Amino acid sequence: MRPTFHFTPARNWINDPNGLVWYDGEYHLFFQYNPLGDDWGNMSWGHAVSHDLTTWEELPVALEHTPTEAVFSGSVVVDRANTSGLGTSETPAMVAVYTSHDLLTGHQGQSVAWSTDNGRTWTRHPKNPVLEIGSTDFRDPKVSWYAGGGYWVMAVALSTEHVVRLYRSDDLLAWTHLSDFGPAGSTAGIWECPDLFPVAVDGDTDRTRWLLVVSVQEGAPAGGSGMQYFVGDFDGTTFTADPAPGSGTWVDYGADYYAAVSFNDDPHARRLLIAWMSNWDYAKDVPTRPYRGSMSAPRTYELRTHRGRQVLVQRPVVEGLPAPVHTVTARDLPDGVHPLPDSWRVTSAVLTAELDPGTASRCGLLVRVGTGECTVVGYDAAKRALYVDRTSSGDTCFHPDFGAVHSAPLGLDEGEPLVLEIHIDTTSVEVYADGGRVVITDQVFPSPTSDGIALFAEGGTANLHSLTVTRVGR
Ligand code: FRU
Repeated sequence: MRPTFHFTPARNWINDPNGLVWYDGEYHLFFQYNPLGDDWGNMSWGHAVSHDLTTWEELPVALEHTPTEAVFSGSVVVDRANTSGLGTSETPAMVAVYTSHDLLTGHQGQSVAWSTDNGRTWTRHPKNPVLEIGSTDFRDPKVSWYAGGGYWVMAVALSTEHVVRLYRSDDLLAWTHLSDFGPAGSTAGIWECPDLFPVAVDGDTDRTRWLLVVSVQEGAPAGGSGMQYFVGDFDGTTFTADPAPGSGTWVDYGADYYAAVSFNDDPHARRLLIAWMSNWDYAKDVPTRPYRGSMSAPRTYELRTHRGRQVLVQRPVVEGLPAPVHTVTARDLPDGVHPLPDSWRVTSAVLTAELDPGTASRCGLLVRVGTGECTVVGYDAAKRALYVDRTSSGDTCFHPDFGAVHSAPLGLDEGEPLVLEIHIDTTSVEVYADGGRVVITDQVFPSPTSDGIALFAEGGTANLHSLTVTRVGR
């Protein structure tokens, strides 16, 4: 069951990615981790590092829970100017700002720990929690350097109030309240894991706007937990979102994309995010062992002007892919299912496809096809929607809501082809349409022998323009 190019821990439970940062040649991925079991609990920070964002080496637990403190989500910065005094300018400290969940009182406050050995060992600050307001729902601090003002900014959730609160600090220890954003957009579920960062518009890094992403525990389009984003401006104090409909949009229309936060200090100046690839509705029930939970592929976030609006575009980063092993050129796809040859069979791969729906009412691909199993990635012309149907994808019976169809609005103009990039792995399907403007991320649990690929059209003839398959890993 283990994925080939998505991070999973050797054993035990994981949820949110934490403390994403690049430092001294390594990408660090910390994560919510239960060192003692494959269910949520004993929350600690697990740790993994990567040189290429694709292969990860798991390291010992970085921040362990204690009898009174659960270590909830948060972030890591590299304090290059030694503003905190916790390192030196020769050996800057990596400073983690995380939520201490007090197991006795239920209070949540923001705490600091630091490392001067590349994140291998951590010391908790004696003044913890450094930021405490007497709340039981005050969590997930994302700290980053605000170059425009020369200070640290923290975005943190007042979860039950549907508010993202912004603070500033000169030393990572004393924090001053700047402003509040929200309630806004979806308030169907509590708010968690905010992140506020600048992004390029239309590929022009001189033209940036600010994006606020917020995870929402219920009421996402595919059911359960999901993420929304707001496009706007940040003046150093206040984040102001563009008026609707330019704001409060869903990041991903699949069921399994939550708690994504961005890397600090990417050496290539990309805005890269990793999400927990699961859903609070059924995360505790997914049928994998001896681990439970996996991360999404890292994705770059940018804005693109689309029909007069600035919308999010996500592109997956998978390094070191070989050249495509199979390519097909244009062909008609009459009504029916068109299996690809056996030599195309694959359980982890990157597929690209360009299709014109033509007269078909639905068309697309079937992946992870086996006896009685397949996952459908399709376009529905009448609904003008992209969809992933995982009702027959494999093991779905572990939770009543898992076997479902997830759709995303995707209107194609007359003659505009459907452009897809599909990443399939042992237990997931990530679909990027129109260059990453519309994304669906879903877990699937097929049999390992369900490795076929097919094309299909329904109700008419579609035209395949091109298809490539690049095998990943084994
Ligand atoms: C989000 C979340 C965070 C919290 C963490 C606890 O999935 O609920 O708000 O810090 O998980 O594991």
